[in-house]
Amino acid sequence: MNRILTCAFLLLPLCASAQEPINPVDKKSAPDSKAPSAAPKLVNPVKPTPNSLAIGKKAYTSDCAMCHGKDGAGAGELAVTMNLKVRDYRDPASLKDLTDGEIYSIIANGKGQMTGEAGRMKAGQIWDVVNYIRSLSKK
Ligand code: HEC
Repeated sequence: MNRILTCAFLLLPLCASAQEPINPVDKKSAPDSKAPSAAPKLVNPVKPTPNSLAIGKKAYTSDCAMCHGKDGAGAGELAVTMNLKVRDYRDPASLKDLTDGEIYSIIANGKGQMTGEAGRMKAGQIWDVVNYIRSLSKK
């Protein structure tokens, strides 16, 4: 009896470690990658037509302006309350280092204290918002 217990006790760590591979963490499909490497090369399929900009403005006004500011200046009410550092999109330098694809990815997946819109906004609508925030520095 004692021998069986000792044996079981000795085998326990083996069993425990043998079980690990049964439930491997699939790192590739983990949804925590905020900026997928394919993002910079994503091509914007939506032209910045007046219609696209109008749809983008509407979505921006309801979902982004509370942080990024109505005019893109970055002083939205919520950003002020939460003490967030938000860039001024009226300045062309603010978004110049980001491709449309990277901006798309940030809007979809979020960044830092900004939550993503994926699931709430359709892809076409996100591209409209990309077009719209690009247009803020052109006025
Ligand atoms: C809760 C406030 C909040 C909301 C709402 C929000 N953002 Fe942001 N956003 C931020 C903050 C803070 C950053 C900087 C994140 C960082 O760099 O850690 C940011 C970053 C970004 C960036 C990356 C470039 C940069 O300025 O650093 C883009 C583009 C952007 N936001 C667009 C949007 C759009 C479009 C929406 C609406 C769909 C939106 N954001 C909604 C707070 C917000």
